[in-house]
Amino acid sequence: MFDNKRIAVLGAGKLGEALITGMLDAGIASKKQFIATAAHQERLEILKKKLGIETTLSNSEAVRKSHLVLLCVKPQTVEDVLRQVSDDLTVDHVVISVAASVTSQFIENILTKPVPVLRTMPNTPCFIKKGMTAIAPGKHATPEHVAQAQKIFDGIGRTLILDEKHMDAVTGLSASGPAFVYIIIESFIEAGVKVGLPREAATQLAAQMVLGASSMVLETGEHPAKLKDIVTTPAGCTIDGILELEDGGLRVTLIKAVVRATHRAKELVNG
Ligand SMILES: NC(=O)c1ccc[n+]([C@@H]2O[C@H](COP(=O)([O-])OP(=O)(O)OC[C@H]3O[C@@H](n4cnc5c(N)ncnc54)[C@H](OP(=O)(O)O)[C@@H]3O)[C@@H](O)[C@H]2O)c1
Repeated sequence: MFDNKRIAVLGAGKLGEALITGMLDAGIASKKQFIATAAHQERLEILKKKLGIETTLSNSEAVRKSHLVLLCVKPQTVEDVLRQVSDDLTVDHVVISVAASVTSQFIENILTKPVPVLRTMPNTPCFIKKGMTAIAPGKHATPEHVAQAQKIFDGIGRTLILDEKHMDAVTGLSASGPAFVYIIIESFIEAGVKVGLPREAATQLAAQMVLGASSMVLETGEHPAKLKDIVTTPAGCTIDGILELEDGGLRVTLIKAVVRATHRAKELVNG
């Protein structure tokens, strides 16, 4: 699918690097296919040393040398970078953006030509290939372009194809979500310490427990409520804990957190 195609990574920061590493490790592209850009030469030196790929400070040069363009700059920088490369982009390119908040329509309007664009939303677990990425095709993207994007993000976790109208919600749920879950894990660790566990043991118990519970949902396909009922023995200890969670409003708090993050996700493009 990517044979002989060169791939420009515009803004190869944390996420751009994770995408390159994911594609290299999955064997879907080789080092010589990549050309990465950044704002500073220091970053390019790091990328060259770590990944052994071609780099340049010129976004235009990277686009001219490539077929596939991964747009990995911050949302506020997207417009500036697109204006730099709009003359170099042709209808034979494919642009895949990971920028939160930036719609395909926003990108398509700047490009003027009918360049295929896809908007994606990965999350930080992509850094260890356990990510979740939603992919939404823009106006000119074909099923083949969607398959290309899916192949890239399958290399760093799971993927889901969604209508673009859901992308801010995805940002609020699965992109911001890891931060919410870290707070939950941190709280479990404090709880473990409170009931007398050594901190290191509490950390392992909490993190593996969250991983196991998530895997149960994904691998059994059961509704989480049913899985919860299996743990909750009548008159046992779990139901006492659930009473405390409901009393503390955990569900409503988590729902509100995702709703707030979703609202904010709509605004990021404006800074
Ligand atoms: N991190 C996440 O959890 C996550 C999740 C989903 C989506 N995203 C999206 O991913 C994008 C990147 O996030 P990140 O965490 O990877 O940020 P990051 O590490 O700050 O990477 C951004 C990169 O853009 C480069 N850059 C800045 N201006 C540039 C320009 N004019 N031309 C070329 N490169 C330029 C920077 O170069 P220097 O290093 O030289 O300054 C930096 O390497 C954002 O749009 C974000 O919304 C992030």
